[in-house]
Amino acid sequence: MILVAGSANLDFVIRAPHIPAPGETVLGQGFTTYPGGKGANQAVACARAGGTPTHMLLAVGRDSHAEPLLASLNAANVTLNTVLAPDQPTGCAFICVADNAENAITVAPGANLTLAYAHLPDLTGFSHLLMQLETPLSTVTAYAQAARAQGVKVVLNAAPAQPLPPELLAAVDVLIVNEGELAAVVPYPVSLMTNPAQIAVPCVVVTLGQRGCAARLGNTFFTQPAYPVNAVDTTGAGDTFCGVLVAALDQGDSITQAMQRASAAAALACTQPGAQSSIPTAQAVTAFLAAQPASSEASLNDLRNYCGMS
Ligand code: RIB
Repeated sequence: MILVAGSANLDFVIRAPHIPAPGETVLGQGFTTYPGGKGANQAVACARAGGTPTHMLLAVGRDSHAEPLLASLNAANVTLNTVLAPDQPTGCAFICVADNAENAITVAPGANLTLAYAHLPDLTGFSHLLMQLETPLSTVTAYAQAARAQGVKVVLNAAPAQPLPPELLAAVDVLIVNEGELAAVVPYPVSLMTNPAQIAVPCVVVTLGQRGCAARLGNTFFTQPAYPVNAVDTTGAGDTFCGVLVAALDQGDSITQAMQRASAAAALACTQPGAQSSIPTAQAVTAFLAAQPASSEASLNDLRNYCGMS
């Protein structure tokens, strides 16, 4: 059983030809709201991956923005432990999605910042605790330490990027970061091959966007090239990766098997608009993988070169 403790945001999304530069105004092509938030997205990804029940601890305000977020999590069969923050609005995010599928996101965390140690449920029966950094760092650290003390594996997606205190890292089993987040954690960046070795966590997974991902488990390094797709919106692809990776590890997959499934799910998430709306089911991921050719030697070599492995 997996517990996701983290944020839920209502995403206010405008598509535009490009992401505006500072001071620039861009005319967009439409406005939509989607259920989002890194925590809620990852909970939906875990649940759609199947195999194990997914629970989520989240905080929302007493406002209409909370309703679609709770409805989306319920529809995905996520069991909710909901904190109602009386004086705070539900978290929201303003997202510009460009025609090249990339995005720029600004989050107003609101109720997400009220999650506190006292809200942590009994961890009996949970195998993994998955967290992100859209809730207070002190709460994330306290949850991680409580989980570690009870033998629950702690997985941290250190997003958005920020430096991490040693007492948090000491309680983390699997750290998932993109390149920007890795730079915020590593004191002396050298290469993607060597940087994860500077982090005192048993397993570090680095997502590399269109290139793929890499991981250090103990002293061994693994790579997984990305699956090419026609991307329309990359929002939530990283969250999909995290949720599916943890669900696969929970089912006993090896780190390489888990990276492959997570990469396939993240690729599929890029082909649909929105965050939770784009997260594929386990069946869709299995069918997608069955249709993929084996990774070419060239793509494997490109990724290894990029990581500084040659
Ligand atoms: O990772 C994507 C998510 O980041 C969005 O859904 C948005 O809510 C922000 O939390």
